[in-house]
Amino acid sequence: MTRRPMMAANWKMNKTVREAQDYTAALLPHAADADGVDVAVFAPLTCLSEVARMAEDSQVLAGAQNFYYEDSGAFTGEVSIPMLQDIGVRTVLVGHSERREVFGESDDLVARKTKRAVEAGLLPVVCVGETKEERDGGGMWEKVSGQVRVVMESLDGPGGDALVFAYEPIWAIGTGDTATPEDAQDAIGQMRGLLKELAGDDFAASVRILYGGSVKPGNVAEIMAQEDVDGALVGGASLEVESFVALIEAAGEAASGGEESGD
Ligand code: PGA
Repeated sequence: MTRRPMMAANWKMNKTVREAQDYTAALLPHAADADGVDVAVFAPLTCLSEVARMAEDSQVLAGAQNFYYEDSGAFTGEVSIPMLQDIGVRTVLVGHSERREVFGESDDLVARKTKRAVEAGLLPVVCVGETKEERDGGGMWEKVSGQVRVVMESLDGPGGDALVFAYEPIWAIGTGDTATPEDAQDAIGQMRGLLKELAGDDFAASVRILYGGSVKPGNVAEIMAQEDVDGALVGGASLEVESFVALIEAAGEAASGGEESGD
């Protein structure tokens, strides 16, 4: 079973329209060279339509960092899935720990948002992960498995290509404190095992699970080399296009290395 690797940039609350244009223009030719890797850029709303327009005929998926699950109505400050599709957005982040922790998004809201995105055919990248206290207290798997279960219970027999998961331990995000490749594999391998139990062999074998948390060009290869890790969701090291391109190239090498060794 070969899963197509994915390298995703999460710009968070960074970049003007002009900066986004320059970045996207520099990224597109490199992404075109990166055969076999899905590239996504989660941009802030103000420059998202521009990224989507520039990336329209490319393999770069323009992504939104947030949205609401209703299609329209009295929801001041929100944007809906049809609005995002209207400007050419192809993927959405759901349940990022900053949305959960800073903006109080609940498991229930994350599940509803994921369901709406899947129904609309807009690829959700669903983030899960534990705090430092939870990990130190031995509660990593309880937290992560609970987050995965709530999302899967909201869905109606999705295919493995309908969504992507990202394991992002909160203590590793933006801290420079990356999980070891073994920790990443351990959590992601357990997630795949749970997904098998919840949604069957085919789903578990085909759904992609990314790692996120202080990924950079210097550590991406060993993380990507882990059996169950299918790519990365990258914040800080995605802000400079040269660094993000290096990450995409590393994902491409991991993918072709995987093929050579016959898996
Ligand atoms: P980081 O962020 O790469 O800066 O740790 C990852 C994320 O929040 O998705």
